[in-house]
Amino acid sequence: MIALVHSLAHIELNAIDMVFDMIARFCQMDLPRTFWDEAVKVGLDEARHYEMISRRLEELGSFYGDLPAHGGLWDATIATRHDLLARLAIVPLVLEARGLDVSPSMMHQVRSAGDEATADIINKIYIDEITHVAFGIKWFEYICAAQDVNPHTKYRSLVKKYFRGPLKPPFNEMARTQAGLTADYYQFDMKPAGPDHA
Ligand SMILES: [Fe+2]
Ligand SMILES: [Fe+2]
Repeated sequence: MIALVHSLAHIELNAIDMVFDMIARFCQMDLPRTFWDEAVKVGLDEARHYEMISRRLEELGSFYGDLPAHGGLWDATIATRHDLLARLAIVPLVLEARGLDVSPSMMHQVRSAGDEATADIINKIYIDEITHVAFGIKWFEYICAAQDVNPHTKYRSLVKKYFRGPLKPPFNEMARTQAGLTADYYQFDMKPAGPDHA
């Protein structure tokens, strides 16, 4: 349980850094004020998530930093540092959407192990993360429309360029749909190679 909660604390800490990196790095872009307001709200959520989960880790007798952690999330941030569309494609629309896929079964496992407190925190985070994916898709499509590019085609090319490996099912279609992330954004890797896959 400590290893699991530690890995969640690591994800949330990275999530704080990733969203404020986005705000600082792309602040020269001409976007509506609401983009920045909503981004800050996501950052505030991530800070609350980190606080909740790191406090739980301490209740379990550990602390954040007690275990080794991977640098994969920050690598994704660095890889997309030059392009806001790539950042939105990879961070909310691949990584945070992936979080929605794995959360229900993780919650179930944690509850089965008798840790209601951790399961409740995972559930709170899960509900917020749906809104983070919604933020990602809303603004990804807004910028694509402003640049007059097809969002689905653009998304596929960005994922192929910046994300290693296929988007793996099972997908949490209910939560993804709730966030506004339609199947066009995640079912394409399962189709046979065609012109879209060039
Ligand atoms: Fe989070
Ligand atoms: Fe998030």
